[in-house]
Amino acid sequence: MAVGRAMPPAYPARPERPVLRPPREMPKRRAFGSLAGRIALLHALAHIELNAIDLGWDIIARFSGEDLPLAFFDDWVRVAAEEAGHFALLADRLGDFGVHHGDFPAHDGLWEAAAATAGDLLARLVVVPLVLEARGLDVTPEMVARLERVGDLPSAEILRRIYRDEIGHVAVGLRWFDRLCRMRGLVPEEVFHERVRRCFKGDLKPPFNHEARSAAGFPQRYYEPLAAGG
Ligand SMILES: [Fe+2]
Ligand SMILES: [Fe+2]
Repeated sequence: MAVGRAMPPAYPARPERPVLRPPREMPKRRAFGSLAGRIALLHALAHIELNAIDLGWDIIARFSGEDLPLAFFDDWVRVAAEEAGHFALLADRLGDFGVHHGDFPAHDGLWEAAAATAGDLLARLVVVPLVLEARGLDVTPEMVARLERVGDLPSAEILRRIYRDEIGHVAVGLRWFDRLCRMRGLVPEEVFHERVRRCFKGDLKPPFNHEARSAAGFPQRYYEPLAAGG
């Protein structure tokens, strides 16, 4: 299929629920071992995956005018399809508990990151796959372990599957980031540092999951110098 040109809306279409609240106003996540705490976690993750679907399609449409190779679009279509799979797995799991996506408020932090990088493809690649999705790799193993500890093996299995796919998303992000930097005569590592400082609020939070990050081909010299307290 030939790649057309389109400008997506600044904000994707959304159902009436969940009600969106600023991250600061979100209720504190309840104790993890409780059923309510686990449901809140699964709901929050489902909402992240919904945003991730939109982010996959947004990068395709928003940067369609930049004369990118067809493989760029193929990669992000695959990513968006996997994000849809993740959302479906989490929505089904919530259904096991009689809960629907939208039953609780959610926050919109992920889309704010997208909006802040709408004019700059390199910034989008840095902030979405290489900062936020890579952060997912750092925190997911602990969530899996905690779910297993309380005996919720089906939810743990879903998070494992998401984790495996997300290593691939970071890899796709990094591959295109490096390639586009080189095509433009830029040094990827330097661009990474500059864009994180300029386009991402806050430091990168250690501890990093070096094993998963390196499985995605993400070198420590990119992110270590930006670690909080470093
Ligand atoms: Fe995902
Ligand atoms: Fe992803």
